[in-house]
Amino acid sequence: MASILGIGIATLDIINTVNGYPEEDAEVRAQNQRVCRGGNATNTLVVLSQLGHCCTWGGVWVDEPDGQRILEDLADYAIDIGACRVESQGKVPTSYIILNQCNGSRTIVHYRDVPEFNFADFEAINLSALDWLHFEGRNVAETARMLERSRQVCPALPISLEVEKPRSQIEQLFTQVEVLLFSKVFAQHYAYTDGATFLQAMQQQAPQARLICAWGTKGGYALETNGTLLYSPAFPPPQVVDTLGAGDTFNAGILDSLCHQQDLATALSHACRLAGKKCGQVGFKGLI
Ligand code: ADP
Ligand code: FRU
Repeated sequence: MASILGIGIATLDIINTVNGYPEEDAEVRAQNQRVCRGGNATNTLVVLSQLGHCCTWGGVWVDEPDGQRILEDLADYAIDIGACRVESQGKVPTSYIILNQCNGSRTIVHYRDVPEFNFADFEAINLSALDWLHFEGRNVAETARMLERSRQVCPALPISLEVEKPRSQIEQLFTQVEVLLFSKVFAQHYAYTDGATFLQAMQQQAPQARLICAWGTKGGYALETNGTLLYSPAFPPPQVVDTLGAGDTFNAGILDSLCHQQDLATALSHACRLAGKKCGQVGFKGLI
């Protein structure tokens, strides 16, 4: 089992399940409400933890009542929070989510008012016992410095970067990692309509990296550094009930396989299977 550090966010997710997406300016009643911890990096870690890995979260945690809820959830999955920075003021990043139970779609309004995890926070972490380092692609300038430091102190440590949202200059990070995990949203932002063409274009910017892109109900694509293109279909569950965190689960599946030295084709189909299973259940608990 691998020792994995994930740098990114933990959020409070307020999820209202509705029976059909509302019209603008409508008033609808939610079928139910769930309040739980979310956030890409920590979602990925709770799946990795269930797969048997030893996981540590590096991010900003706020010491307020909703922060406690986040800590309890992470403790439930035995996620080590020793690499976190603690803020005594402010509010944990919060997502207001409409989950449409007819098709499992999730619409997110995200609010944050807390500083980002930065280079000074990262510098304090001992990287020497790690087998894998994973970053959420945010706070580009500081992340660039974190990547540089990782290279200096642990040159052999494999690093993955999640590129989910378009962010100014994020492409400057692409050459610094072994694995790039793109989202369909990112590809579509640059007008790509299929994952294969998108990854082939990205390879020019990151020839050293293995490239992966999840593509919703179509499954996912991957591109080896030698140019071999891989595809896996999605694995639909009997009923799609909750797609929130499907991409984070997919990423966990990729990292799990790569930590076990499995090949990229195996990793891709494992990731799609795991993400499909997640879509058939509420949340992440009991996924494995
Ligand atoms: P995100 O959660 O970032 O929006 P995607 O929608 O691309 O990510 O989904 C990630 C992965 O989850 C996909 O590659 C696919 O394997 C799986 N997935 C997503 N939606 C479904 C679905 N409706 N049925 C089965 N698998 C799905
Ligand atoms: C799902 C998720 C939610 C969170 C939001 C942050 O991928 O991590 O849990 O609220 O995205 O962008």
